[in-house]
Amino acid sequence: MPIAPRLGVLTSCLLLVACGPKDPARMKTGEELYDYYCRSCHSESNLGPRLERVPAGSKQLKPHELVLMMRHDYTRPSQHPDIRLPQLSPEQADAVAQYAYMLHNQGN
Ligand code: HEC
Repeated sequence: MPIAPRLGVLTSCLLLVACGPKDPARMKTGEELYDYYCRSCHSESNLGPRLERVPAGSKQLKPHELVLMMRHDYTRPSQHPDIRLPQLSPEQADAVAQYAYMLHNQGN
């Protein structure tokens, strides 16, 4: 079985993914997912785009709670508005939760 033609196909696929328009379904890193789904609302809510200004009294959600919030109907015990993102894969939800948790920890 010749391998070279297959590599050609694989390379074109990779190029398409790398150069194509941003498709949120393909996003993998917590940072790009955060920028796409979370950032603008945090800016508009006056929390700072990277959660720099979350009020000191806010309950900090753990990464697994953030995942529950995105994939299921979980907001308590935080003040976080209900955001439901069932389109995220478990891996994407985990990545963005870890990233947001890290931002919040870092910023305050
Ligand atoms: C509808 C607007 C909105 C969207 C969309 C949104 N947030 Fe928030 N977020 C808020 C508000 C308002 C607060 C402040 C809540 C508080 O005082 O605890 C907040 C606070 C937070 C905090 C810090 C406080 C805590 O509870 O730990 C984290 C972490 C967070 N958001 C994660 C996310 C992630 C991850 C996403 C995207 C998947 C997201 N948010 C999308 C409005 C939003």
